[in-house]
Amino acid sequence: MTATAGERALVDPLPGVFPSGFRWGVATAAYQIEGAATEDGRGPSIWDTFATVPGHIADGSDGLVACDHYHRWAEDLDLLEWLGVGAYRFSVSWPRILPGGGSRVETRGLDFYDRLVDGLLARGIDPVATLYHWDLPQPLEDAGGWAERDTAWRFADLAVAVHERLGDRVSSWITLNEPWCSAFLGYASGNHAPGRREPAAALRATHHLLLGHGLAVAALREAGSSAEVGITLNLYPVHPATEDASDIDAARRLDGMQNRIFLDPVLRGSYPADVLADLSARGFGLDHIQPGDLDTISAPIDVLGVNYYSSFCVRSAGDAAPHRNRHASPWVGCDDVDFVSRHLPLTHMDWEVDPDGLRQMLVRLAGDYKTPPIVITENGAAYRDLPGTTGQVDDPERIQFVESHLRAALAAIGEGVPLRGYFLWSLLDNLEWAWGYSRRFGVVHVDFATQQRTPKSSAYRYREIVAANGPGPAL
Ligand code: FCB
Repeated sequence: MTATAGERALVDPLPGVFPSGFRWGVATAAYQIEGAATEDGRGPSIWDTFATVPGHIADGSDGLVACDHYHRWAEDLDLLEWLGVGAYRFSVSWPRILPGGGSRVETRGLDFYDRLVDGLLARGIDPVATLYHWDLPQPLEDAGGWAERDTAWRFADLAVAVHERLGDRVSSWITLNEPWCSAFLGYASGNHAPGRREPAAALRATHHLLLGHGLAVAALREAGSSAEVGITLNLYPVHPATEDASDIDAARRLDGMQNRIFLDPVLRGSYPADVLADLSARGFGLDHIQPGDLDTISAPIDVLGVNYYSSFCVRSAGDAAPHRNRHASPWVGCDDVDFVSRHLPLTHMDWEVDPDGLRQMLVRLAGDYKTPPIVITENGAAYRDLPGTTGQVDDPERIQFVESHLRAALAAIGEGVPLRGYFLWSLLDNLEWAWGYSRRFGVVHVDFATQQRTPKSSAYRYREIVAANGPGPAL
C-alpha cells in the first residue's frame, strides 16, 4: 500500500508518543459474529427472539450463522495475530453459558471460550472479556428482563461462572457494554431487543443494569480476581444548536440521559440531581432505586471503557414536540429534543464524523470525574465497502476515520487524559444489530455467502500503525 504524506505522518512520529504500554486491539461481540445459535446447548437470547419478528432487522436477517466464528475462531485468531494487536475484546454469550438464565451451567459453552482464550494467549494476545454485550437469555426476559431487579443478581451469577472457568487467564473484564443501548433502545424506543416501548421500564432497566455491574464487580473481587475490571459506556458530547436558553436546556437534558445517568452513579455514587428532577417532574417513579444500591454501583473500577462514534447537536423543538409519538425517542423525557445536522461527513450509519468530539469527551471525563485509566473500547465506522475487480477491498474513508480519531486520542493524551488503549470496532464485518448485515464495520471484509475473510486496506493500515507503536503489555 502506498501512503500519502499525510498518512505516513501519522505512523512516523507515533512511536514514543502513545504512552508506553498503550494497548492496541480490535473488538467484537458474541451475537454479532458467532452464529451456531442452537449448538452445544446454547439457549435463545432476546436477539434470537427479536430477529424472528418481520421488520425488526432491516434486511430480515438473524444471528443463526453470522460470521460462523464459533467454528472459524482459529482462522479469526490468526487474523488478529497477523494484525499484530496486543489485545482482543470479545464478549461471552450469556445463553451459551447459562442457557436458562438461572444457575445451570452449560460446560460446552464455557469450553468454547476456554479454547478461544488459550488460542489468544498462544498467539501472544491479551483477552479482554465483556460479560454482557446485549444477549440476555430469553427466559430472563420472560420473567421481566432488565426491568426486574432480580436480573442484576442473575448477571452476577454469570460473572462468577465465567470467572471460575477463565479467571486464571483473563486479565481484563468489562462488565457491561453500553448499558444505554440495552436500556433505552431495548425498553424505550424498542429498536433493539427485547423491543419494548415502555419508558418507565427503560429507567428501571438502567438502574438494574448499573446494579448488575456493581454486583458483578463485587462478585469478581470476592472470587479473588486480581484482574482489572471496568464498564464500557457509549458517550457523546452534546452541543446546543444555538445559545438560546431552550436549546442549552435541551443539550443539558440529552447529556443527562445519554452520558451522566451512567457516569455519575458509577464514578460519583449518585444520579445527577437534574436528571432525577426532570424525570420526577415528568411523572416517572424512582422507587426502584433502593438504599445502598449506589454504594454497590460505585465500587471502584480499574478502567473506564469509552465507545466513541459521534457527537450530537440538539435544539428544543418547543411547540412542535406534541405532534410526535411520545414513545419513539429512546432518550426518556427528551421527546421535544431535535437533532440538528452540522453537515459533517456521514458514515453509512448516517452518523456524523466528529473526531474532535472524542478529544472533547476524554478531556471532559478527566476534568469532571475522578476517572480510572480510560480505554477506548470501540471506535470505528461503517462504509459501503465493495470488493474490487481483483478481490481487494479498498476503504480509504475508514482509514481516514481511524487516523483522525487516533490523532484526537493523541491530543487528549497531550492534555493529560489517562488514556491507555484503543480498540477498533470491528475485526470483521458482522451482524450490525437492527441493521443486519447491511452495515459493514470490519477491517476484514466478510463474504456472508462463502464466509471468506479478506483484510481491507484499513486492516493493512492499522497493522502498520500498531507495528509502529508496539502492541504494548497489559496495563
Ligand atoms: C456499538 C455496539 C457494537 C457495534 C457498534 C457499531 O454501539 O457496542 O456492538 O454495533 O456500535
